[in-house]
Amino acid sequence: MRIIVHTAKCQGHARCWAQAPGIFKLDDEGSILPGDIEVAEAEQLLALRAARSCPERALEVDHA
Ligand code: F3S
Repeated sequence: MRIIVHTAKCQGHARCWAQAPGIFKLDDEGSILPGDIEVAEAEQLLALRAARSCPERALEVDHA
């Protein structure tokens, strides 16, 4: 599973990071770092929940 990060949509709510700080990294201003995120199988449920918690829909889940 891969998370496609839409940095332009991020408003720094940090909900993704609060739920899964090992997966979602923020910069000094609290915005998500650019670049798609490959998620290990064991962390997929956690990553999915965290991605869905973003109120700006900045984290797109790619199940391919
Ligand atoms: Fe940004 Fe959404 Fe996370 S607004 S910091 S991607 S919860």
